[in-house]
Amino acid sequence: MRQLNRAFDVLELLSSKEYRSGESLAAKLGVSRVAIWRQIEHLKKIGVDIISVSGQGYKIQADFEMLSAVKIYKNLASAGGINKSSIRVSKVVDSTNAVLMRLPPSREQQVLFSEFQTAGKGRRDDEWISPPGGGVWFSLSRCFDSPTSSFSALGLVVGISVISGLQKLGINGLQLKWPNDVVFEGAKLAGILIELRSEVSGPCFAVIGIGLNTNLGLSARRKIDKKVIDISQLSDKHLSRNLVASALLSSLDEHLSAFENLGFQSFRESWRRFDFLLDKELKILCGSRVETGRAEGVDDIGALLLRQGGEVKQILSGHIIELV
Ligand code: BTN
Repeated sequence: MRQLNRAFDVLELLSSKEYRSGESLAAKLGVSRVAIWRQIEHLKKIGVDIISVSGQGYKIQADFEMLSAVKIYKNLASAGGINKSSIRVSKVVDSTNAVLMRLPPSREQQVLFSEFQTAGKGRRDDEWISPPGGGVWFSLSRCFDSPTSSFSALGLVVGISVISGLQKLGINGLQLKWPNDVVFEGAKLAGILIELRSEVSGPCFAVIGIGLNTNLGLSARRKIDKKVIDISQLSDKHLSRNLVASALLSSLDEHLSAFENLGFQSFRESWRRFDFLLDKELKILCGSRVETGRAEGVDDIGALLLRQGGEVKQILSGHIIELV
């Protein structure tokens, strides 16, 4: 951890516009040039794209701004149910979802952002690549008193909230690929992972994890085996990660409250507007079965409706393997 702290100190001094020499970095941080070289190697290893040119120094692909709980809280459109003290930013954790799942269930919402995750989790036990500065990686825990039958639609509501938060920052053209990928022209911008812990007939404790790509470097992209996109490709102006984090959090809080009060039905119209799969022919892996059909939107509990000849099948969970 101490080594990582030092590596972040170096990262904060690097710029995308000009080279910084090892010597000047060493002088600024009061350490040796060898120590700087070690930190640079460490940063490269964890997925930061650093260009080194002998005689000139080091440069990064995109300017790095540390996430800050104070800035995130200050920018919240409305704090809603989020307390200042419930927002935490870590430099490194295994997975923000895993950290919140390990906490004792609490009625108070907890929000954890991390600059870097060593074991970021995706759906279906996939790895989620989360390099420092490459995105906004965070989880929010929330206690739902009476999980309704539409609770399975929680991930869909979170997807709608991500799109709505980003629209406020001027990012348009985003769509939702059932169950909860946020895409732009089919390329993945954000993923959502929901983990639940519930007592029999008691409250349900949900950890909602969101990974949004903001500036994925080359080395991260090489490790990802699907078409991805990031915020820097979708916005003409530079958007601060702290601002993006606040927009996501405000929107999430607002949409979750509406979901609790009104259920998923009130979101079906928004889903239809953003539905990437609507009217497309699909192949879906449901457990070990493959279902084929034409997507006809979602029902009141967020299940995918798949037309198979004269019948419409309700798909509660599955993974899209192919668009036919
Ligand atoms: C997916 O599309 O497969 C879901 C990806 C979810 C990634 C986020 S990043 C923050 C949170 N912590 C994790 O370990 N995973 C989620």
